[in-house]
Amino acid sequence: MRVRREMGCMVGECGLGTMRKNVPLLELKYRPPTHLNTSPPTMSARTLEAIRYTPDHLQVLNQLVLPHETLFERVETIQDGHATIKTMKVRGAPAIAIVAALALAVDLSARHKKGEFPNAAAAVAFVSESLQYLKTSRPTAVNLFDAANKLLALVQERGKTATGAQEVVDAYVAAAEKMLVDDVQDNKNIGRFGAEYIFGQAKNKDNVRVLTHCNTGSLATAGWGTALGIIRDLHATGHLSHAYCTETRPYNQGSRLTAYELVYEGIPATLVTDSMASALLRSQPVAAVIVGADRVARNGDTANKIGTYQLAIVARHHGVAFVVAAPSTSVDLSIASGAEIPIEERAENEVVTVRGIVVPLPGEEAVREGEARTVQVAAKGISVWNPGFDVTPASLISAIVTERGVVLKKEGEDVFDMAAFLGK
Ligand code: MRU
Repeated sequence: MRVRREMGCMVGECGLGTMRKNVPLLELKYRPPTHLNTSPPTMSARTLEAIRYTPDHLQVLNQLVLPHETLFERVETIQDGHATIKTMKVRGAPAIAIVAALALAVDLSARHKKGEFPNAAAAVAFVSESLQYLKTSRPTAVNLFDAANKLLALVQERGKTATGAQEVVDAYVAAAEKMLVDDVQDNKNIGRFGAEYIFGQAKNKDNVRVLTHCNTGSLATAGWGTALGIIRDLHATGHLSHAYCTETRPYNQGSRLTAYELVYEGIPATLVTDSMASALLRSQPVAAVIVGADRVARNGDTANKIGTYQLAIVARHHGVAFVVAAPSTSVDLSIASGAEIPIEERAENEVVTVRGIVVPLPGEEAVREGEARTVQVAAKGISVWNPGFDVTPASLISAIVTERGVVLKKEGEDVFDMAAFLGK
């Protein structure tokens, strides 16, 4: 405690607005904490997994405690599923949709086994109400709405001819399970198409460097990833020199999750704060900025994690390709442009606080080292604006990579024609 005071006030010791001056910052040489191992964490699979599913059993990796703790939590009901998504224990557009679909699958099966559905219509009604409820968990990513609409249409159709609840339950569970399988395959295709596009466009093929934002990897999907799937593919084919990932304030999906995935897979990578992006693009030969999407409008305007828009502006200024990677389930053809995308506003505490584990600074006593703590970083009383996403106009996007191929703009056009690409 005494040494702490020498280096300035700690939260709780003095007001945040009265931090001591003349703090000997230069003496704070960084020493890697003993518990932070640079080798990959012990996991059974080479690629991390966020969702563990076997029939009637769903477990979700709690991403709020990553990268310091690996904690799988059981999801048994639609209420569990809703809370898991809303609190962002699971996050990322495809993963949100899949967890919602599977939460309902396990809940539906359990209720059916208890004899709660006297007939097919009762099972259909439960599915319909549950999907409606699950859709209220998070508003921006369209994948959840797309999945819910498809699943509802399927059970309603099955309900017309089913002779009992069993057939409805079976049809729902099979369709939800298929979403898990299909997402991995879609991501692999996105990875392949995206890597070919970026490598093909790269001016210096011996030094392909990319920058990504937020987390779009195995943790945000059923596996592999979208933007991070492209980076994986570039690495696997020997075409990647280096990946940069942003910290992604305020919730640090980049420093907590993407950095974790990159270290885990041994991909050469460097973490930068969001404010370093312009300097990075000026100083390094970055071939492309690659990001995911939560919703792509008919014209290609793309909602993604807050901070994406500024990266697109910076990429345009530096003549760097700006690539969006997303499955076609992220495309919302019902909206003409990004102006119609609802942007989730999240709680103030995500901006003013940071959660991590206690690490000792040089000369500091290692008090409770490794223990998880939330600390206040902003001045108390300041008001906060915390939009979770922003919309990047199509004009700033070079290409949209889907599992069906790469979407480009027509010669002379400033927007994409997503409907034509998807054949709708
Ligand atoms: O708030 P989050 O963490 O759910 O936001 C995630 C993103 O914005 C991702 O970039 C997007 O969902 C694509 S994930 C493949």
